[in-house]
Amino acid sequence: MATSNSSDSSASAEVPAPYGSGPGQHEAPAAGRKPAKVRIHHLQQAKRDGTRFAMLTAYEQYTAEIFDAAGIEVLLVGDSASNNVYGNETSLPVTVDELLPLCRAVARTAKRAMVVADLPFGSYEVSAEQAVATGVRFLKEGLAHAVKIEGSAYYAPTVRAMVQAGIPVMAHIGFTPQSEHALGGYRVQGRGDDAQRLIDDARALSDAGAFCVLMEMVPADTAAAVDAAVDVPTIGIGAGNATTGQVLVWQDMAGLRGGRMAKFVKQYADLRTTLLDAATAYGDDVRSGQFPGPEHSF
Ligand code: KIV
Repeated sequence: MATSNSSDSSASAEVPAPYGSGPGQHEAPAAGRKPAKVRIHHLQQAKRDGTRFAMLTAYEQYTAEIFDAAGIEVLLVGDSASNNVYGNETSLPVTVDELLPLCRAVARTAKRAMVVADLPFGSYEVSAEQAVATGVRFLKEGLAHAVKIEGSAYYAPTVRAMVQAGIPVMAHIGFTPQSEHALGGYRVQGRGDDAQRLIDDARALSDAGAFCVLMEMVPADTAAAVDAAVDVPTIGIGAGNATTGQVLVWQDMAGLRGGRMAKFVKQYADLRTTLLDAATAYGDDVRSGQFPGPEHSF
């Protein structure tokens, strides 16, 4: 991703925080990686330059630290915490009060990544005033840098009100998990003639001030048409390869979650097996008296 300060004069005024100078700060980033914080204008520059950036979900400090150190540009404190942290079946039950502490942990830990918080179901739909009030809580109490809301062009006035209040908004269109019941389950959106609906949604939301449009489960050609229709960067999850960024839920990406994976998931590790093997070995050692050994005793 083009996060080089030299490519954007507005970024050159920013003085990066010295690495390793405060509690919880990790070591300097790898050579060639810029230590400045990822800002909205960096994501916008990526779209202009035709470069790409990566986003992963994160819900607590260790993954936030690791993904930040890996150079992941955006960390999403997703409402997918509902079914990846809190044990719910869907994203619907999670509340603002449950997400805020997770968001705070991620935002306190990440030194470079932009931290985006999902506004959970029921926390922004009632009115623009409700959306602004919830967005303020995520920036003030959750220390998020931006928020994400799900929805169509109908939410353009809401986005406008939030942006005017100083809350950067990422818009999530296509398959929107909070509307799972209204949409009749996990279904690809924007096929064929329905593509125009998503283009209209993306245009309305970006015209209202959304700094980025995320598309979930959208055919690759529709996602490419949406990307071409808006000036803002786009992010895809199950939306092909033409978007500026990509996002995955980290437990899917790293193979922590078992069970069936969506077609759009690529697993880069098998943490489930690694942890299962470690926990099994530990249990065996405890039961057989092998642990703790003399080297672990005082
Ligand atoms: O909550 C989440 O993890 C998300 C991603 C699927 C984009 O919204």
